[in-house]
Amino acid sequence: MIEASHWHPVASSAALGEQPLAARLLGVDLVLWRDAGANVHAWADQCPHRGARLSLGRVLRAQIGDRLECPYHGWQFDSQGLAQTVPALPNFRPPKTHQVQQFAVTEQYGLIWVQLASQGFGAPPKFGAEHEVRLRKVNSGPYDVQTSAPRIVENFLDLAHFGFVHEHWLGARERPEIGDYKVVPTDSGFIATGCRAWQPHSSVNARSGAMVEYTYEVTAPFASVLTKEPEPGTAAIADFRESIALFVCPIDAEFSRVWFRMAMNDFISPDQKFIAFQDTIFMQDKPVLESQRPKRLPLSQDAELHCAADKSSAAYRRLLREWKISFGVC
Ligand code: FES
Ligand code: CO
Repeated sequence: MIEASHWHPVASSAALGEQPLAARLLGVDLVLWRDAGANVHAWADQCPHRGARLSLGRVLRAQIGDRLECPYHGWQFDSQGLAQTVPALPNFRPPKTHQVQQFAVTEQYGLIWVQLASQGFGAPPKFGAEHEVRLRKVNSGPYDVQTSAPRIVENFLDLAHFGFVHEHWLGARERPEIGDYKVVPTDSGFIATGCRAWQPHSSVNARSGAMVEYTYEVTAPFASVLTKEPEPGTAAIADFRESIALFVCPIDAEFSRVWFRMAMNDFISPDQKFIAFQDTIFMQDKPVLESQRPKRLPLSQDAELHCAADKSSAAYRRLLREWKISFGVC
């Protein structure tokens, strides 16, 4: 499965404390734990002895290096995933074959990312705005959604729902028109530029309704970044701009976990204000997303009806076909 060679977010960095945390990616149960050096480990959440869930165990802080202890018979695994101690046999030195299955893991954007395949992409998808050190960053989520990851990405790329799902916020049913926009392939996916929508309340800083120009970029099968710029003079902050990344964890084919990472030039508003705004918007999307049938995104060209406003959606479906994505599609 090609999805396994991509990096996916599985938990917020802040959610992983001293004790192990269960996560799930592409139908695979994971245990995450952090050693005293703050390094994160992502392993199969299944003890190689009798299959108990290691996430029910505990982290032991030991002088010889931290260990994860299985909840069932207390076997201890070191940070390399090797069994070091079998309590029932104090004199037994476990061979190297007594090992937990491990996965590549890294932390970026305040999230823990895992790659299930032993070979694949070098790093999590890029978030251009991240490199602009002067921008303020805030995460929102996680949001659990009973649908496939591709349905969520496609909704993120969709402007034509603003006037209905986000009426009085990101759109107005009196002004639902979406003008033509451009879609161009990139190294990592595609970019849609010149997307314009009229928005009554486009951000926490909106002072009035505004024509807002969006750019959308698909950066990985289940990741996308938008940048939105309201017309001058409509925001409480001069030249207010923001980029929002959507990062989706494909937990199961029809169940996903979502984070947003916002980058903006507002250094005054409290984090909570941005998070509350994003919560409001996404809670408007969620019931509609969960209502879509099939839950998996149909990729065949004759499935569902399309219109010219769906250019980004069509490009996304084409990309998933090209990439041979099989998880969460039909
Ligand atoms: Fe883990 Fe026995 S199942 S130690
Ligand atoms: Co929406």
